Amino acid sequence: MAAMNWLQYLEHKLRAQEAAGLLRAGPVRSGPARARTTIDGGRFVYWGSNHYLDLATHPEVVHAAQEAAARYGTGSGASPLLPGKTPLHEELEEELARWKGTEAACLFATGYQANVGWLMALCGPRDLVLYDELVHASLLDGARASGAHLCPFRHADPGSLEDRLRQERGRYRFAAILTDGVFSMDGDLAPLPDLLELAERFDALLFVDDAHGTGVLGFDGSGTAAHFGLKGRERLIHIGTTSKALAAEGGFLAGPAVLIRFLRNRARSYMFSTAPAPPVVAAALAALRIARFDHSRRQHLHRLGQRLRQGLRQLGWSVPDDPTPIVPLRIGPVSETLQRAEALRARGHWVPAIRPPTVPHGTSRLRLSLTAGHKAEEIDELLEALGPPPAGAGR
Ligand SMILES: Cc1ncc(COP(=O)(O)O)c(C=O)c1O
Repeated sequence: MAAMNWLQYLEHKLRAQEAAGLLRAGPVRSGPARARTTIDGGRFVYWGSNHYLDLATHPEVVHAAQEAAARYGTGSGASPLLPGKTPLHEELEEELARWKGTEAACLFATGYQANVGWLMALCGPRDLVLYDELVHASLLDGARASGAHLCPFRHADPGSLEDRLRQERGRYRFAAILTDGVFSMDGDLAPLPDLLELAERFDALLFVDDAHGTGVLGFDGSGTAAHFGLKGRERLIHIGTTSKALAAEGGFLAGPAVLIRFLRNRARSYMFSTAPAPPVVAAALAALRIARFDHSRRQHLHRLGQRLRQGLRQLGWSVPDDPTPIVPLRIGPVSETLQRAEALRARGHWVPAIRPPTVPHGTSRLRLSLTAGHKAEEIDELLEALGPPPAGAGR
């Protein structure tokens, strides 16, 4: 190893990754991220899109993007403060805040940048960050970069969080509790009411990354907090993306006005990165308006979820009960997961195989994401192609 130069070392690492079945080839999709599309030249029913409401090709969304490109150009040209922001950016921030029930919102170029940005701006070595062990990588990366004291708690386990708070809270200035609203690789919901009660009791703030609940859950589609009746609670800070149900790109944090003003002046990934492109912002804004008021897409999505979960249980799969569009099929070993994905592809279904480092070793899975563009018959076809789980597979 000592004699290897740097590039040879990288080659060596990649070969090891390939041998473990963990090298990604990166297939290319030559159609939109919809229920039926073309991937690497083949036609598939596609179960990997996070555009849960199937809005990426909605005529109003596409028209809004085209109009914005014609009016403001294709790029924003500068970071938000210089000013890369257009009235569209301001409008989107205001509507996101209204939807989430907060005073204000701050729009970042991506959800990843939002999480790294707010954590680095708000937390430091004198602070405590407690996080569900399965939170999204962007929260973890932001927490690490912040230099705060990090403290994981067991997945979706308020008792574990309470133990940690009792042990650690007294030694730190501020405490932030991090959770996903809908867990991106497990499809289950965080126990938000219990987590919020602990945040209130232990003088902490609860930051909920609702990338996968936004647009999908709650009476108005505003997300997991609405699902649990927790909108408007002071200690709950909302994070989200416009890249999933809103079919665009971007990340945001919504909360008290003072917090948002602070982030606009301190979050480095906001200040030192080009503002999202106007067509993308316009698309997100148009999608938000549909997501908020068109309940039929959400209802269809929920019915599909019920059908899929019921069918999977009949086949012997163990799947979470929560009403989310993400349904993981736990298999375990990498090789078996890849084989299952390949077998489904041969039957016309493209299902992402999720492996380490996205999920812990030994928990590789197929991750089904439903969209409002799927049909009941496609679920039935998928179930038939899938068959029962391998012996020993489970959650
Ligand atoms: C829970 C969660 N947070 C944040 C992100 C990052 O969002 P983005 O893809 O907009 O960077 C994702 C998506 O990949 C996610 O699943």
